[in-house]
Amino acid sequence: MKTYLVTGGAGFIGSNFVHYMLKRYNDAKIINVDSLTYAGNLENLKSIEGNPNYTFVKANICDKEAMSRIFEKNDIDYVVNFAAESHVDRSISDPEIFVETNVKGTVNLLNVAKEFWQAGEDEYKNGCKFLQVSTDEVYGSLGAEGFFTESTPLCPHSPYSASKASADMLVKAYFDTFKLPINITRCSNNYGPYQFPEKLIPLIINNALHHRDLPIYGDGLNIRDWLYVEDHCKAIDMVIRSGKIGEVYNIGGHNERMNVTIVKTIIEYINENVDKEVDDTLITYVKDRKGHDRRYGIDPEKIKNDLGWYPETSFEVGIKKTINWYLNNKEWIKSVTNGQYKDYYEKMYGIN
Ligand code: NAD
Ligand code: DAU
Repeated sequence: MKTYLVTGGAGFIGSNFVHYMLKRYNDAKIINVDSLTYAGNLENLKSIEGNPNYTFVKANICDKEAMSRIFEKNDIDYVVNFAAESHVDRSISDPEIFVETNVKGTVNLLNVAKEFWQAGEDEYKNGCKFLQVSTDEVYGSLGAEGFFTESTPLCPHSPYSASKASADMLVKAYFDTFKLPINITRCSNNYGPYQFPEKLIPLIINNALHHRDLPIYGDGLNIRDWLYVEDHCKAIDMVIRSGKIGEVYNIGGHNERMNVTIVKTIIEYINENVDKEVDDTLITYVKDRKGHDRRYGIDPEKIKNDLGWYPETSFEVGIKKTINWYLNNKEWIKSVTNGQYKDYYEKMYGIN
């Protein structure tokens, strides 16, 4: 039996990871610690509440006593650190919480893991590992050519990506200085079930279903590299099990699309399959995001060659699954936005 301390497991990727692991392994014990910010929702985990291999603890990763108590009570083998403030727009309007959770929270977890795992000078509990879930955004922005590799210099632009890059450097410092066993994964944009409807894909689906304007920032030609969330979960599992200690692994499936293409793909599917009134006239070009990165593109050769990872869900299949999930889970959207949705978007974009 291996025990995983999953932080941020009530959020989008974290909850998908918890489901993925419990489905895949009978001998994985998951402790999910989450402070339940606006982005964390226990609704995402309802179906596994009674699973004997799953425990939820409501706590903040910045809280040393709370994290220590979890390590005291449980023989933790792996920390998988998803907990973060994750939305770039929020980091532009309110940067400090990003430093608090993403930087200070990570260093707190590193300290607690180091203390409880330490078995001697530069020696740690057999097989333990701290996996930091990072992002391609730490590399900055690409021009028309080339891809991010693991040796691309870090060049973050937003307060969000700067906080994630800081956390990455601290995680690496704990390996370089203390030999704490770590890996860092840097994935491209995820999409799929349980993503909070402030992010592009669920926001567009939800707005389209309500015949609301579909906001596109700037000229809509910015490019993101999209990966179905389950393929990210599979990659993290593989890095935990087989990743070489101290290494960084990029994760992505060479699936680059312009934002406007994403929006039009969603409109087309809804128009053809759900509601004829949803069409391109809903598209509204709005003020650009400050410091908006132009293009992300991951080179995933290392994780493919070294660990045998490959993405299983094509974008064509994944986007349909995602739209259908949101169609079938309208109550979920209502429950997570908790009535704040309308005010938030009116404030952010002047949209009603
Ligand atoms: P999310 O915002 O959906 O979820 C974050 C979770 O962390 C929430 O459940 C929230 O309640 C919890 N949390 C926040 N602050 C906390 C704190 N101080 N203590 C405990 N829990 C706290 O985020 P996501 O999109 O699922 O992203 C998860 C991780 O993956 C993040 O670290 C993010 O940087 C990284 N990532 C995201 C993407 C993406 O496309 N969404 C891509 C690559 C990497
Ligand atoms: O690349 C990985 C990152 O992807 C993660 O590290 C972040 O946690 C995650 O939020 C995501 O960041 P992005 O900024 O790329 O995602 P977002 O969904 O906010 O925006 C995607 C693109 O769409 C971006 O170019 C901005 C644009 N956009 C976004 C929204 C919300 C719009 O044009 N309109 C919108 O309403």
